[in-house]
Amino acid sequence: MKIIFATGNKGKLREAAEILGEGFELVTPAMMGITEDIPETGDTLQENSIQKADYLFERLGCDCFADDTGLEVDALGGAPGVHSARYATDGHDFAANMDKLLAELEKVGAMTLEQRTARFRSVITLIWKGEKHFFEGSFEGYIAFEKAGCGGFGYDPVFIPERSQLSEAGMDTVCPEGCTVAECPDDLKNAVSHRGKALRAMAAWLAENK
Ligand code: IMP
Repeated sequence: MKIIFATGNKGKLREAAEILGEGFELVTPAMMGITEDIPETGDTLQENSIQKADYLFERLGCDCFADDTGLEVDALGGAPGVHSARYATDGHDFAANMDKLLAELEKVGAMTLEQRTARFRSVITLIWKGEKHFFEGSFEGYIAFEKAGCGGFGYDPVFIPERSQLSEAGMDTVCPEGCTVAECPDDLKNAVSHRGKALRAMAAWLAENK
């Protein structure tokens, strides 16, 4: 079954293909001739994911889904949140975003791990047979004091997973205490991440309703 996924990010596409399994052929907007940036100007993750899914549905008229993700840091009142991609600059400058985040946490005096609680939150909008459906997932953790590791993308080098989610998923040995997501193998993210959870919830819904 063919479904369009509103992404140009190869990592996200691989994650989604693994989670949705063989019954689905995932197609990107670029493969359908849509090469411009899809607008995301909403004030919430849900608004952005709806905006992206609507954009594709209006142009292509077929089943599609879009996700939007934000990193919410408690000591910063939930920032960068919906502005995670463009926190430091106008572009997706991952290094500059992390540097700004570490500096902001220092400014507010969040200098113990307990003061640096945070979570990734993903919202997926699926447009299936013309109807919208929403799926969410979150991934709890802490912001590290410095960047570590070179795997993953985005804020992964400063995100230390909270331990109980790892043990529930049998992933505690994959991620030693104090390590960032960027220091761990990719299967950690598929098993416990925000997007992994939201994608699995969508896959379960599709398995029942397709
Ligand atoms: P998007 O909505 O998925 O494009 O995510 C917005 C921003 O959140 C990205 O530019 C990344 O900086 C960050 N982000 C999203 N997902 C992840 C992730 O799995 N790990 C680390 N950072 C992420």
